[in-house]
Amino acid sequence: MKHLAFLFLFFLTSQTVHSWKKDEFRACDQTPFCKRARFRKPGSCTLIATDVSISDGDLTAKLIPIAEHDHDQDPIKPLTLSVSVYRDGIMRLKIDEDPSLDPPKKRFQVPDVIVPEFEGKKLWLQSASSEKLDGNTGGLISVVYLSDGYEAVLRHDPFEVYVREKAGKRRVVSLNSHRLFDFEQLRVKKEDEDWEERFRGHTDTRPYGPQSISFDVSFYESDFVYGIPEHATSFALKPTRGPGVEESEPYRLFNLDVFEYVHDSPFGIYGSIPFMVSHGKSGKSSGFFWLNAAEMQIDVLAKGWDAENGILMPTEQSRIDTFWMTEAGIVDTFFFVGPGPKDVVKQYMSVTGLPAMPQLFSTAYHQCRWNYRDEEDVENVDSKFDEHDIPYDVLWLDIEHTDGKRYFTWDKLLFPHPEEMQRKLAAKGRRMVTIVDPHIKRDDSFHLHKDASQRGYYVKDASGKDFDGWCWPGSSSYPDVLNPEIRSWWAEKFSYKNYIGSTPSLYIWNDMNEPSVFNGPEVTMPRDVLHLGGVEHRELHNAYGYYFHMATADGLVKRGDGKDRPFVLSRAFFAGSQRYGAVWTGDNSADWDHLRVSVPMILSLGLTGMSFSGADVGGFFGNPDPELLVRWYQLGAYYPFFRGHAHHDTKRREPWLFGERNTALMRDAIRIRYTLLPYFYTLFREANVSGVPVVRPLWMEFPSDEAAFSNDEAFMVGNSLLVQGIYETRAKHASVYLPGKESWYDLRTGTTYKGGKTHKLEVSEESIPAFQRAGTIVPRKDRLRRSSTQMMHDPFTLVIALNSSQEAEGELYLDDGKSFDFKHGAYIHRRFVFSNGHLTSSNMASSTLGNSKFSSDCVIERIILLGYTPGAKTALIEPGNQKAEIELGPLRFGGQHGGAAVTIRKPGVRVAEDWKIKVL
Ligand code: NOJ
Repeated sequence: MKHLAFLFLFFLTSQTVHSWKKDEFRACDQTPFCKRARFRKPGSCTLIATDVSISDGDLTAKLIPIAEHDHDQDPIKPLTLSVSVYRDGIMRLKIDEDPSLDPPKKRFQVPDVIVPEFEGKKLWLQSASSEKLDGNTGGLISVVYLSDGYEAVLRHDPFEVYVREKAGKRRVVSLNSHRLFDFEQLRVKKEDEDWEERFRGHTDTRPYGPQSISFDVSFYESDFVYGIPEHATSFALKPTRGPGVEESEPYRLFNLDVFEYVHDSPFGIYGSIPFMVSHGKSGKSSGFFWLNAAEMQIDVLAKGWDAENGILMPTEQSRIDTFWMTEAGIVDTFFFVGPGPKDVVKQYMSVTGLPAMPQLFSTAYHQCRWNYRDEEDVENVDSKFDEHDIPYDVLWLDIEHTDGKRYFTWDKLLFPHPEEMQRKLAAKGRRMVTIVDPHIKRDDSFHLHKDASQRGYYVKDASGKDFDGWCWPGSSSYPDVLNPEIRSWWAEKFSYKNYIGSTPSLYIWNDMNEPSVFNGPEVTMPRDVLHLGGVEHRELHNAYGYYFHMATADGLVKRGDGKDRPFVLSRAFFAGSQRYGAVWTGDNSADWDHLRVSVPMILSLGLTGMSFSGADVGGFFGNPDPELLVRWYQLGAYYPFFRGHAHHDTKRREPWLFGERNTALMRDAIRIRYTLLPYFYTLFREANVSGVPVVRPLWMEFPSDEAAFSNDEAFMVGNSLLVQGIYETRAKHASVYLPGKESWYDLRTGTTYKGGKTHKLEVSEESIPAFQRAGTIVPRKDRLRRSSTQMMHDPFTLVIALNSSQEAEGELYLDDGKSFDFKHGAYIHRRFVFSNGHLTSSNMASSTLGNSKFSSDCVIERIILLGYTPGAKTALIEPGNQKAEIELGPLRFGGQHGGAAVTIRKPGVRVAEDWKIKVL
């Protein structure tokens, strides 16, 4: 039996690993709800809003069909509609079946995603005003206050909901303007009906029948839409239907374990965030989020898509139309008015929560491979980093470290001394990460399985038995993490007592949590599997990984008595996952196309909350040649999450295995990341406070710069750095667009380039193009050590890139790098301003957070001035009136010595204090 199981597993893995088959996954026309919805024509919705009133602070109505009822069809019951408004420009629209009309089942609303504080932001509507459209000749609308500049509108007949600017009444986002809205109500099955759905030998019993929802959403003043990860495709979403579009699938949101995903496709992969952002020439952005965890498909419609059956729309505003379809759930949608891109992101985060503040070590470099074989291998790899003077912070162990894929255990032969192994790493300030997946081996001698099955904690199949699926360990079951009691049970498994062999320097990797089920339909769990309260898997599929990630992160918090920030990397994700940790883009391939697509993928994740993300450096499948690997390190050094990883069939590729020159190049790339850690950490804090992502599209910083709108080869790291990847072999030149009016300084040479222009630059193997924006100050740490922990007390360098008015500003955030004390005020947050030849450091920390203090003895050892024109000799430091020398110093960056720049040497001022430095 064991052999058979092994053979089966071998067959599956070798199949899936070597051939990504499009036909393993359902296309829209093989998915009945998608096919039906896509077939609908504009104008087909006949619902109108009646009984419009204000109740409980909301604008409410019933939706009823106006058309004559077709007697062959079931009667359409009224749907309930409510519009609520929240502080900061957020409108929420909910539409559901009326519970008082006894639908056969309560439809699923995703719990635990909206943060509790959000309800506190609700504005209680007192009244609605009625207006007639088109100068009193048109239909009736009810208008309510949304924010000072915006209003929410419900049009009655036909029903339509939108937000608009108060002055000028220009629309921002609207729903059902094309009358494509459709809501399949739950009903009793007729005798001759067959509700089952079959796909590649799998039968979905679909006991509740059709229950899909679809509607159109329009974004005004828009030229592009972005977001709705996860897809391996361009950042600006290409149209999927309409004139000029060859046959295309809609963007699919369905968490799937897709082996060898192709680099340009709207197919769904590991995670789903149903949040879209629009942006246009006006410099304005808006957003739309649908809180629904069932399979979703979204069309972006090309201009003229409705030429035949179009509905008259306001024509003076540019517009992008989209069409949203889901298999189940309710309409629970959020409209964000912006008007700036950062405003939209903040509005979304006020609903789903801010990204967690990571531990400092996790923002440094991670070394992973499937698998580091044994303790000796671990020790070897670790010491080679030191031998080659390459810093790294975390060593990862994949599934083979366990005893037969039983998570929380260790293979006793290969890893006999896990605690000692972790301690040795910890002594150098390094951590370890082990993998813990959701499939639990169905083995009665495995305590975790015994416990889970006895308590009834597994997800149940349609017949009520524990669902039994196939994954790495063979026959496996999956904890029902929708249930808070089960999440808390799971969290306990991470205590030092339960996770034998774990120590405080061990952190966790959640993989395969889509969930992946090798023998399931589309390599996942059947949709009719049951969760807590009879919720069908179809209703919550896209959030399974989210709950698993949440339970694991909570486990690490509990393990450390609430004192240690968790680090959990997850493959699957949903809206809100940003509160629990990092994600990566899964099993990419070692080719240039996957290197290129990593940037739009990471940008989409950041835009939709998942600020802490990265792609496997080097590419997971296949063997990168040294040039590709080097380019990947050079780009990966700027990913928010920076980890090298590889499949077990690939050749070893640690950075020292490709000859001295390539080792030096990879070392330089990794060192660049370590040099910039203070800047990255400051950006992670910015994301944690405001939601603005660490890595951003150019247009987030330059919202009116049209040339930036569809550029996804370059990206901003914070507001100060612009990075352009090199995506082809033997590149001699690169075209780099530098936005804005101010100039940019090459990070290595200090050479200036004009903004608002595309520059054709020579490139060498040494680095990819990267620039600091004039007018910014970037904090660095230039002394290189083995790990970030060992840099804790090192002095800082400030790089001041002056703009045309000889001014610049920047920030530095630091704390203990690991605890939650920062939440009570234990941090340092400085603002640096250079103006009139003076550099001032002032406090930015909020005084309202609490009395906890963080102190640091760190000083500033060097200040580099880029673009400083008058000749300067000395600098005077206040208070104290000390002098510091000014000279031409090397513009060191990472391991490289670049051009010379005006440098204030050893000013010796403390980062924690107020001071002023005058350049004389
Ligand atoms: C799939 C993950 O995406 C990959 O990173 C990992 O190495 C394998 N599973 C084995 O755990």
